[in-house]
Amino acid sequence: MPAPRTVLLTGAAGGLGTLMRSLLPEYGYTLRLFDVRPVEGEPDAITADLADRDALREAVRGVDAVLHLAGISLEAPFEKILRSNVEGTYHLYEAARQEGVPRIVFASSNHAVGFTPAPRAGEPLIPVDTPRRPDTFYGLSKSFGEDLAQLYWDKHGLETVSVRIGSCFPEPTSVRMLSVWMSPADGARLFHAALTAEEVGHTVVYGSSANTRLWWDLTSARALGYEPRDDSEPYAGKLVAEQGELDPENPAHSHLGGHFVNDPPIWPH
Ligand SMILES: NC(=O)c1ccc[n+]([C@@H]2O[C@H](COP(=O)([O-])OP(=O)(O)OC[C@H]3O[C@@H](n4cnc5c(N)ncnc54)[C@H](O)[C@@H]3O)[C@@H](O)[C@H]2O)c1
Repeated sequence: MPAPRTVLLTGAAGGLGTLMRSLLPEYGYTLRLFDVRPVEGEPDAITADLADRDALREAVRGVDAVLHLAGISLEAPFEKILRSNVEGTYHLYEAARQEGVPRIVFASSNHAVGFTPAPRAGEPLIPVDTPRRPDTFYGLSKSFGEDLAQLYWDKHGLETVSVRIGSCFPEPTSVRMLSVWMSPADGARLFHAALTAEEVGHTVVYGSSANTRLWWDLTSARALGYEPRDDSEPYAGKLVAEQGELDPENPAHSHLGGHFVNDPPIWPH
């Protein structure tokens, strides 16, 4: 696949979309922006919902790849998750298939495997092929997205890198985040690798920096050419002093998904 130049960025108005809008152009991409909300300072951004199939068809027409970040990014009532994350992602894949877009980089999440116990000291890191154990309807929708990506690769030859993002924020803000943090600069490095690596088929990777306290195995991400440069450890002293070390007896501390594992479900009423 020739190196992609024009990339559709869905979810461009969101937190991660905003970070990537500033970081990815340095890699030579021209970004086409898409979000249901207007993107501040970007009058050419496409303002449309993932439910709008015509808008999606037009948005993906002629792009070399899609970085699919749009969707509900936290737990929410099932119907909302269904509409944006399940149906919306399906509509995006259909538009990409119909327009011949060769690759999608899909923002999956650690919450697709959130009920997986975090490794204790000395235990092996969690591999990408660990059974999926969603911790929420949100995590379930990311699990669906990974299966959808596999289907579109097997059936239609549309490639995907599913990135199970940990937490991509400028700085880690909790002790758990020391294990799952992905610096924005490493996020851009990983998305760039996912957009440009040869012959990815459907590849699942974890998205994080090279954290000293890392919980999962970055081998499949490194195989794409990703070389993380950051580590959350310099933030550890302050965060541990404020919050204490993780308590292995607390389910919110001892599973990959953190507090998502014991937050009560959000019902529609
Ligand atoms: N930020 C992280 O650390 C993190 C971690 C794991 C996974 N992710 C995933 O990465 C993506 C981006 O995360 P974020 O933190 O920027 O979230 P965010 O909520 O800040 O941004 C999501 C964007 O998607 C847009 N959106 C939602 N539903 C839409 C729809 N139906 N049609 C069009 N646009 C829609 C929203 O308007 C918003 O701008 C999400 O898919 C999220 O699940 C993020």
